[in-house]
Amino acid sequence: MTFPESRPRRLRSTPVIRGMVAETRLSAADFIAPLFFDARISRPEPINAMPGQQRWPVEAAAEVCGPLAEAGVNAVMLFGLPDYKDDEGSSSWQDTGVVQQAIAEIRRSCPEMLIITDVCLCEYTSHGHCGLLDGNSVDNDRTLPLLARQALSHIEAGADIVAPSDMMDGRVGAIRGALDVHGHSDTPIMAYSAKYASAFYGPFREAAESTPSFGDRRSYQMDPANVREALKEVSLDLAEGADIVMVKPALSYLDVIHRVREAVQVPVAAYNVSGEYSMIKAAGAAGWIDEERAVREVLTSIKRAGADLIISYHSLEAALAIRSGRWS
Ligand code: PBG
Repeated sequence: MTFPESRPRRLRSTPVIRGMVAETRLSAADFIAPLFFDARISRPEPINAMPGQQRWPVEAAAEVCGPLAEAGVNAVMLFGLPDYKDDEGSSSWQDTGVVQQAIAEIRRSCPEMLIITDVCLCEYTSHGHCGLLDGNSVDNDRTLPLLARQALSHIEAGADIVAPSDMMDGRVGAIRGALDVHGHSDTPIMAYSAKYASAFYGPFREAAESTPSFGDRRSYQMDPANVREALKEVSLDLAEGADIVMVKPALSYLDVIHRVREAVQVPVAAYNVSGEYSMIKAAGAAGWIDEERAVREVLTSIKRAGADLIISYHSLEAALAIRSGRWS
Protein backbone atom coordinates (compact mmCIF):
# COMPACT_ATOMS: atom_id res chain seq x y z
CA MET A 1 0.00 0.00 0.00
CA THR A 2 1.14 3.48 -0.76
CA PHE A 3 -0.46 6.92 -0.46
CA PRO A 4 -3.38 7.67 -0.43
CA GLU A 5 -4.37 4.31 1.15
CA SER A 6 -1.41 4.37 3.50
CA ARG A 7 -1.31 7.40 5.80
CA PRO A 8 1.15 7.00 8.70
CA ARG A 9 -0.24 10.21 10.22
CA ARG A 10 -3.36 8.25 11.29
CA LEU A 11 -1.39 6.83 14.22
CA ARG A 12 -0.02 10.20 15.31
CA SER A 13 -3.18 12.15 15.93
CA THR A 14 -3.40 12.15 19.75
CA PRO A 15 -1.09 11.58 22.72
CA VAL A 16 -3.01 8.39 23.58
CA ILE A 17 -2.62 6.84 20.16
CA ARG A 18 1.02 7.88 19.94
CA GLY A 19 1.58 6.30 23.35
CA MET A 20 -0.07 3.06 22.24
CA VAL A 21 2.16 2.62 19.23
CA ALA A 22 5.41 3.86 20.78
CA GLU A 23 8.12 1.28 20.10
CA THR A 24 10.46 2.48 22.82
CA ARG A 25 9.54 3.39 26.38
CA LEU A 26 11.81 4.69 29.09
CA SER A 27 11.46 3.42 32.62
CA ALA A 28 13.21 4.47 35.82
CA ALA A 29 14.51 0.89 36.04
CA ASP A 30 16.62 1.46 32.89
CA PHE A 31 18.88 3.94 34.63
CA ILE A 32 22.12 3.81 36.56
CA ALA A 33 23.13 7.07 38.24
CA PRO A 34 26.87 7.86 38.38
CA LEU A 35 27.99 9.42 41.70
CA PHE A 36 31.26 11.04 42.74
CA PHE A 37 32.40 10.63 46.35
CA ASP A 38 35.25 12.80 47.60
CA ALA A 39 37.26 11.81 50.70
CA ARG A 40 38.48 15.38 51.30
CA ILE A 41 35.23 17.27 51.71
CA SER A 42 32.52 17.53 54.34
CA ARG A 43 29.84 19.28 52.29
CA PRO A 44 28.60 18.60 48.74
CA GLU A 45 30.55 20.60 46.14
CA PRO A 46 28.97 21.52 42.81
CA ILE A 47 30.89 20.34 39.75
CA ASN A 48 31.42 23.39 37.61
CA ALA A 49 31.54 21.62 34.27
CA MET A 50 28.48 19.47 35.07
CA PRO A 51 25.59 21.72 36.12
CA GLY A 52 23.32 19.95 38.61
CA GLN A 53 25.96 17.38 39.64
CA GLN A 54 27.97 17.39 42.87
CA ARG A 55 30.92 15.77 44.51
CA TRP A 56 29.61 14.19 47.69
CA PRO A 57 31.23 13.55 51.04
CA VAL A 58 30.83 9.96 52.19
CA GLU A 59 28.46 11.07 54.97
CA ALA A 60 26.03 12.42 52.33
CA ALA A 61 25.29 8.94 50.95
CA ALA A 62 21.74 8.96 52.34
CA GLU A 63 21.08 12.46 51.03
CA VAL A 64 22.03 11.41 47.51
CA CYS A 65 20.66 7.88 47.26
CA GLY A 66 17.38 8.53 49.09
CA PRO A 67 15.85 10.68 46.31
CA LEU A 68 17.13 8.28 43.64
CA ALA A 69 15.53 5.28 45.34
CA GLU A 70 12.36 7.27 45.90
CA ALA A 71 12.20 8.11 42.18
CA GLY A 72 12.69 4.45 41.23
CA VAL A 73 16.35 4.58 40.18
CA ASN A 74 17.63 1.27 41.54
CA ALA A 75 21.30 1.41 40.66
CA VAL A 76 24.30 3.70 41.15
CA MET A 77 27.81 3.69 39.70
CA LEU A 78 30.44 4.95 42.13
CA PHE A 79 33.58 6.98 41.42
CA GLY A 80 36.06 8.06 44.09
CA LEU A 81 38.26 11.07 44.71
CA PRO A 82 40.78 9.73 47.24
CA ASP A 83 42.69 11.51 50.00
CA TYR A 84 46.06 10.62 48.43
CA LYS A 85 47.46 9.55 45.08
CA ASP A 86 50.64 7.62 44.24
CA ASP A 87 52.29 5.93 41.26
CA GLU A 88 50.29 2.72 41.55
CA GLY A 89 46.94 4.05 42.76
CA SER A 90 47.09 2.24 46.10
CA SER A 91 44.35 4.43 47.62
CA SER A 92 41.93 2.51 45.38
CA TRP A 93 42.17 -0.78 47.28
CA GLN A 94 42.28 0.35 50.93
CA ASP A 95 39.52 -0.93 53.22
CA THR A 96 39.15 2.68 54.37
CA GLY A 97 39.16 4.05 50.79
CA VAL A 98 36.56 6.56 49.72
CA VAL A 99 34.60 4.17 47.49
CA GLN A 100 34.75 1.43 50.11
CA GLN A 101 33.31 3.82 52.71
CA ALA A 102 30.66 5.12 50.31
CA ILE A 103 29.58 1.54 49.60
CA ALA A 104 29.09 0.92 53.32
CA GLU A 105 27.13 4.15 53.77
CA ILE A 106 24.83 3.44 50.82
CA ARG A 107 24.28 -0.12 52.05
CA ARG A 108 23.27 1.28 55.40
CA SER A 109 21.00 4.08 54.17
CA CYS A 110 19.53 2.52 50.98
CA PRO A 111 19.77 -1.23 51.48
CA GLU A 112 18.01 -2.07 48.21
CA MET A 113 20.24 0.07 46.00
CA LEU A 114 22.32 -1.92 43.46
CA ILE A 115 25.90 -0.69 43.89
CA ILE A 116 28.15 -0.81 40.84
CA THR A 117 31.70 0.48 41.13
CA ASP A 118 33.92 1.85 38.41
CA VAL A 119 37.24 0.00 38.52
CA CYS A 120 40.15 2.03 37.17
CA LEU A 121 43.37 3.58 38.42
CA CYS A 122 43.21 7.06 36.86
CA GLU A 123 41.45 8.75 39.78
CA TYR A 124 44.04 7.30 42.18
CA THR A 125 47.36 7.63 40.34
CA SER A 126 49.55 10.73 40.66
CA HIS A 127 50.08 10.72 36.86
CA GLY A 128 46.35 10.25 36.04
CA HIS A 129 46.81 7.31 33.68
CA CYS A 130 44.63 4.21 33.97
CA GLY A 131 47.52 1.84 34.74
CA LEU A 132 51.09 1.51 36.00
CA LEU A 133 53.65 3.45 34.01
CA ASP A 134 56.75 2.04 32.43
CA GLY A 135 58.52 5.20 31.32
CA ASN A 136 55.87 7.08 29.40
CA SER A 137 53.72 4.12 28.49
CA VAL A 138 51.12 2.19 30.43
CA ASP A 139 52.26 -1.32 31.31
CA ASN A 140 49.29 -3.54 30.56
CA ASP A 141 50.24 -6.77 32.32
CA ARG A 142 51.62 -5.25 35.52
CA THR A 143 48.39 -3.24 35.83
CA LEU A 144 46.12 -6.30 35.85
CA PRO A 145 46.77 -7.48 39.43
CA LEU A 146 46.18 -3.93 40.71
CA LEU A 147 42.80 -3.73 39.00
CA ALA A 148 41.91 -7.15 40.38
CA ARG A 149 42.90 -6.01 43.87
CA GLN A 150 40.74 -2.88 43.58
CA ALA A 151 37.75 -4.85 42.26
CA LEU A 152 38.04 -7.40 45.06
CA SER A 153 38.25 -4.63 47.64
CA HIS A 154 35.04 -3.04 46.30
CA ILE A 155 33.20 -6.35 46.44
CA GLU A 156 34.48 -7.13 49.94
CA ALA A 157 33.23 -3.69 51.02
CA GLY A 158 29.75 -4.71 49.82
CA ALA A 159 29.45 -3.65 46.16
CA ASP A 160 27.21 -5.76 43.93
CA ILE A 161 28.89 -5.40 40.53
CA VAL A 162 32.30 -4.21 39.36
CA ALA A 163 32.72 -2.28 36.13
CA PRO A 164 36.31 -2.13 34.82
CA SER A 165 36.83 1.00 32.69
CA ASP A 166 40.61 1.01 32.28
CA MET A 167 40.76 -0.71 28.85
CA MET A 168 43.75 -2.91 29.67
CA ASP A 169 43.76 -6.15 27.68
CA GLY A 170 42.90 -9.17 29.83
CA ARG A 171 41.49 -7.25 32.77
CA VAL A 172 38.09 -8.94 32.80
CA GLY A 173 39.79 -12.33 33.08
CA ALA A 174 42.13 -11.09 35.81
CA ILE A 175 39.22 -9.65 37.83
CA ARG A 176 37.06 -12.75 37.28
CA GLY A 177 39.91 -14.95 38.50
CA ALA A 178 40.49 -12.88 41.65
CA LEU A 179 36.78 -12.74 42.50
CA ASP A 180 36.35 -16.48 41.99
CA VAL A 181 39.37 -17.41 44.10
CA HIS A 182 37.97 -15.33 46.97
CA GLY A 183 34.51 -16.88 46.88
CA HIS A 184 32.74 -14.26 44.75
CA SER A 185 31.92 -16.41 41.76
CA ASP A 186 28.33 -15.06 41.78
CA THR A 187 29.41 -11.43 41.45
CA PRO A 188 28.74 -10.00 37.98
CA ILE A 189 31.22 -7.97 35.93
CA MET A 190 29.95 -5.13 33.77
CA ALA A 191 32.78 -4.50 31.30
CA TYR A 192 33.39 -1.16 29.65
CA SER A 193 34.11 -3.20 26.52
CA ALA A 194 33.90 -0.63 23.73
CA LYS A 195 35.27 2.46 25.42
CA TYR A 196 36.44 5.08 22.98
CA ALA A 197 39.12 7.75 23.44
CA SER A 198 36.58 10.56 23.50
CA ALA A 199 36.55 14.33 23.88
CA PHE A 200 33.21 13.91 25.64
CA TYR A 201 34.91 12.80 28.89
CA GLY A 202 36.18 16.36 29.46
CA PRO A 203 33.76 17.41 32.23
CA PHE A 204 34.22 14.05 34.04
CA ARG A 205 37.94 14.57 34.25
CA GLU A 206 37.32 17.88 35.94
CA ALA A 207 34.79 16.23 38.27
CA ALA A 208 37.06 13.29 39.13
CA GLU A 209 40.39 15.13 38.87
CA SER A 210 41.64 12.38 36.60
CA THR A 211 43.16 14.26 33.67
CA PRO A 212 46.39 12.53 32.61
CA SER A 213 49.39 14.69 33.58
CA PHE A 214 50.96 14.04 30.15
CA GLY A 215 49.83 12.54 26.84
CA ASP A 216 46.34 11.10 26.37
CA ARG A 217 44.55 7.75 26.59
CA ARG A 218 44.71 6.78 22.93
CA SER A 219 47.17 3.94 23.53
CA TYR A 220 44.49 2.07 25.50
CA GLN A 221 41.05 3.53 24.67
CA MET A 222 39.52 2.85 21.25
CA ASP A 223 39.76 4.89 18.09
CA PRO A 224 36.37 6.53 17.29
CA ALA A 225 36.86 5.39 13.68
CA ASN A 226 36.34 1.72 14.52
CA VAL A 227 33.29 -0.49 14.94
CA ARG A 228 34.54 -3.98 14.01
CA GLU A 229 37.11 -3.53 16.72
CA ALA A 230 34.30 -2.84 19.20
CA LEU A 231 32.79 -6.24 18.36
CA LYS A 232 36.19 -7.81 18.92
CA GLU A 233 36.58 -6.11 22.33
CA VAL A 234 33.09 -7.31 23.28
CA SER A 235 33.79 -10.90 22.31
CA LEU A 236 37.11 -10.93 24.18
CA ASP A 237 35.41 -9.59 27.33
CA LEU A 238 32.64 -12.17 27.06
CA ALA A 239 35.19 -14.94 26.65
CA GLU A 240 36.93 -13.69 29.82
CA GLY A 241 33.69 -13.77 31.79
CA ALA A 242 31.92 -10.41 31.39
CA ASP A 243 28.21 -10.59 32.25
CA ILE A 244 27.17 -7.20 30.86
CA VAL A 245 29.03 -5.32 28.12
CA MET A 246 29.11 -1.56 27.70
CA VAL A 247 29.49 0.94 24.90
CA LYS A 248 30.83 4.37 25.86
CA PRO A 249 30.11 7.18 25.00
CA ALA A 250 26.55 6.70 23.77
CA LEU A 251 25.44 9.43 21.40
CA SER A 252 28.21 9.45 18.82
CA TYR A 253 28.22 5.65 19.03
CA LEU A 254 24.56 4.66 18.56
CA ASP A 255 25.62 2.49 15.63
CA VAL A 256 28.05 0.67 17.89
CA ILE A 257 25.32 0.08 20.49
CA HIS A 258 23.11 -1.32 17.74
CA ARG A 259 25.81 -3.59 16.33
CA VAL A 260 26.74 -4.91 19.76
CA ARG A 261 23.07 -5.50 20.63
CA GLU A 262 22.67 -7.60 17.46
CA ALA A 263 25.88 -9.53 18.11
CA VAL A 264 25.50 -10.69 21.72
CA GLN A 265 23.01 -12.37 24.04
CA VAL A 266 23.99 -10.56 27.24
CA PRO A 267 22.60 -7.20 28.44
CA VAL A 268 24.15 -4.16 26.77
CA ALA A 269 24.79 -0.98 28.76
CA ALA A 270 25.49 2.43 27.26
CA TYR A 271 27.19 5.31 29.05
CA ASN A 272 25.66 8.72 28.33
CA VAL A 273 28.86 10.50 29.35
CA SER A 274 29.67 13.79 31.03
CA GLY A 275 30.22 15.84 27.86
CA GLU A 276 26.92 14.63 26.42
CA TYR A 277 25.20 15.69 29.64
CA SER A 278 26.90 19.08 29.90
CA MET A 279 26.15 20.01 26.28
CA ILE A 280 22.42 19.59 26.93
CA LYS A 281 22.64 21.46 30.23
CA ALA A 282 24.52 24.35 28.63
CA ALA A 283 22.16 24.64 25.67
CA GLY A 284 19.16 24.33 28.00
CA ALA A 285 20.46 27.04 30.34
CA ALA A 286 21.08 29.33 27.38
CA GLY A 287 17.50 28.81 26.23
CA TRP A 288 18.61 27.33 22.90
CA ILE A 289 16.78 24.03 23.34
CA ASP A 290 13.89 22.72 25.42
CA GLU A 291 16.05 20.86 27.91
CA GLU A 292 13.55 18.30 29.18
CA ARG A 293 12.45 17.34 25.67
CA ALA A 294 16.06 17.05 24.56
CA VAL A 295 16.88 14.81 27.53
CA ARG A 296 13.95 12.55 26.71
CA GLU A 297 14.93 12.37 23.05
CA VAL A 298 18.56 11.56 23.85
CA LEU A 299 17.69 8.82 26.34
CA THR A 300 15.06 7.37 24.01
CA SER A 301 17.60 7.23 21.18
CA ILE A 302 20.06 5.31 23.34
CA LYS A 303 17.40 2.77 24.28
CA ARG A 304 16.09 2.54 20.70
CA ALA A 305 19.63 1.83 19.49
CA GLY A 306 19.60 -1.26 21.72
CA ALA A 307 20.83 -0.35 25.20
CA ASP A 308 19.19 -2.35 27.98
CA LEU A 309 20.79 -0.20 30.68
CA ILE A 310 21.62 3.48 30.51
CA ILE A 311 24.25 5.04 32.74
CA SER A 312 23.34 8.72 32.81
CA TYR A 313 23.73 11.87 34.89
CA HIS A 314 20.14 12.61 33.80
CA SER A 315 18.87 9.53 35.71
CA LEU A 316 17.15 11.37 38.55
CA GLU A 317 15.49 14.04 36.43
CA ALA A 318 14.39 11.41 33.90
CA ALA A 319 12.91 9.17 36.61
CA LEU A 320 11.05 12.14 38.09
CA ALA A 321 9.68 13.15 34.69
CA ILE A 322 8.54 9.57 34.05
CA ARG A 323 6.87 9.35 37.45
CA SER A 324 5.06 12.65 36.91
CA GLY A 325 3.53 11.22 33.74
CA ARG A 326 5.01 13.96 31.55
CA TRP A 327 6.86 11.41 29.42
CA SER A 328 4.00 9.03 28.70
C1 PBG B 1 37.75 6.21 34.23
C2 PBG B 1 36.48 6.68 33.60
C3 PBG B 1 36.25 7.79 32.78
C4 PBG B 1 34.88 7.85 32.57
C5 PBG B 1 34.33 6.76 33.22
N1 PBG B 1 35.33 6.04 33.83
C6 PBG B 1 37.17 8.84 32.28
C7 PBG B 1 38.20 8.53 31.28
O1 PBG B 1 38.32 7.44 30.73
O2 PBG B 1 38.99 9.45 31.05
C8 PBG B 1 34.17 8.93 31.80
C9 PBG B 1 32.75 9.15 32.19
C10 PBG B 1 32.14 10.43 31.71
O3 PBG B 1 32.72 11.20 30.93
O4 PBG B 1 31.01 10.67 32.13
N2 PBG B 1 38.70 5.71 33.37
